[in-house]
Amino acid sequence: MVIETKKSAMDTFVAKTKELFASEPDLDKRWQALTPILSDLLADPAVVAASKNWPDCVPADGRAENLLFYVDDEYGFAINGLTKNANRGGRTRIHDHAHIYTLYGVLDGKESVERYDRLDDRSRPDYAEIKLASSVEVGPGEIDLVGPYEVHSENTVGQRTVAVIIRSQMGGTFNQGRYNPETNEYYESLGPRQTPVEMLPEA
Ligand SMILES: [Fe+2]
Repeated sequence: MVIETKKSAMDTFVAKTKELFASEPDLDKRWQALTPILSDLLADPAVVAASKNWPDCVPADGRAENLLFYVDDEYGFAINGLTKNANRGGRTRIHDHAHIYTLYGVLDGKESVERYDRLDDRSRPDYAEIKLASSVEVGPGEIDLVGPYEVHSENTVGQRTVAVIIRSQMGGTFNQGRYNPETNEYYESLGPRQTPVEMLPEA
C-alpha cells in the first residue's frame, strides 16, 4: 500500500524559508531571495481557494487587523493574511513598518501601492516631509518588498483584495511610523492586531 503524504503549500513555504534564512545572513539578499518562494505560495490553487473564505480584516481603535497564519519560533518571521472588503474603500494610512522587512504579495484582486521618499533630516520627532515617488497598480502574484522604514500605503481600488504578507517579525508589538503629507505631521503607533486564523482549513 502506498501512503501519499502531500505537504501543504504553507508547509513547503516554511521549510524553504527556514533553509534560506539558515544559508543567507545578508538581510537585503535574504529578503530578495524570498520573493520567488512567496510566488509559489501565491500561485498554489489550494491557497487561492481557501482565501475566498478568509474573514474580512476590520480596522478598529486606530489599528489595522491582520490574519495570523504562522510565526516561526526559530527565526521569528510571521505569515499574515490581509483581506480588504470591496466596500471598505479609500486609502490606508501612509506608514512604515519600522525596523522589519516585509514581503507584500497580492493573492486576489487589485490595489494600488504608493511609495514615498522621505525628504527631511529626521531631526524632529513629530515632523516628516514626504513626497510621492511612485504609484503602481498591482494584481495577483505581484510582490512588493518593503524594507526597514520605507514609507508607503496600499490602497483599495473598489474591489475585494487579499494579500499574503511575510514579515521578519510579527507586527503589532512595536510602533510603526505614520505620516500626514498635508501637515507634515509624524507620529508612531502600534501595528496591526493579529487574529489567528487557519490559512488552509481542513476540508
Ligand atoms: Fe504596509
